Amino acid sequence: MLSIFRRLRPRQILTVTLQAQRRTAKSKEKRQKKQQEISRLKASIAKVEAANKLEDPLSMLMPFKKFERNGLDIKIECSKVSELDKETINWAFQLTKSNMQSLYEASDWGWSDREKKTEMTEDKAWYLIARDLDSKKPVACVHFRFDLECDDEVLYCYEIQIMPEARRKGLGKFLMQILELLAHKTDMKKVMLTIFKHNPVGRDFFVNKLKYNVDEISPQTPLFEEEYCYEILSKIMPEKKPSAVEKAT
Ligand SMILES: CC(C)(COP(=O)(O)OP(=O)(O)OC[C@H]1O[C@@H](n2cnc3c(N)ncnc32)[C@H](O)[C@@H]1OP(=O)(O)O)[C@@H](O)C(=O)NCCC(=O)NCCS
Repeated sequence: MLSIFRRLRPRQILTVTLQAQRRTAKSKEKRQKKQQEISRLKASIAKVEAANKLEDPLSMLMPFKKFERNGLDIKIECSKVSELDKETINWAFQLTKSNMQSLYEASDWGWSDREKKTEMTEDKAWYLIARDLDSKKPVACVHFRFDLECDDEVLYCYEIQIMPEARRKGLGKFLMQILELLAHKTDMKKVMLTIFKHNPVGRDFFVNKLKYNVDEISPQTPLFEEEYCYEILSKIMPEKKPSAVEKAT
């Protein structure tokens, strides 16, 4: 077979060679970028898996197992939904229903007992349960998950539900602080949550008191269409400083 170079002049050969080299460099760069993306995703998956394998994430935060303020004397436990007894799961569902049903019904999502129960009992669900120290009765719950969101490792807060008599005593803020510390300890990038726009108490709590921001993946309302009923809020975790050992290696 006649080589293409035998039909070209030296100058043309140089141009063809340079073009080929540039193409090779570009595709190498593309391959490297893809490889970096794959490595980053693998690292994110590994972090989520490691967090989900923890026995009791709250054992990393021993002082946060108790809350004694404003007349509340509370013990806080952390466990996967599979480790909760039926009575506690049912209590968490009933509290969520009584706090949230009307807000769901005022949105285009509607309320379904079955869907909410399924969501609250999926394998990935973790819970913080706050109980009165004397009576052992639960007064608050948080449903959260270590998960990937748009390829980022995040701690997603699905619910924070507090019994009416235990509100405005700092417990909600304390439970969210626990989530943020857990996210930091387990190397998650951010804490995320979804909030109805027509839940002013919840929104005020997260945005004004706890300084959560509207996340970049929160849906934007198109100019001439109906408004979305919800927003996705998040707080980015500060990057962990490398330890002295990590710095030395
Ligand atoms: C939202 C909720 C979790 C807040 O919990 P909480 O324990 O009452 O909150 P805290 O006592 O930690 O309050 C922290 C701050 O939030 C703000 N806040 C909380 N409840 C408020 C209310 N009813 N009105 C105005 N501000 C409020 C205040 O700034 C408060 O600080 P302050 O008491 O020093 O003024 C609780 O009201 C609740 O369970 N609501 C029903 C379920 C819900 O809407 N969950 C959120 C969506 S999943």
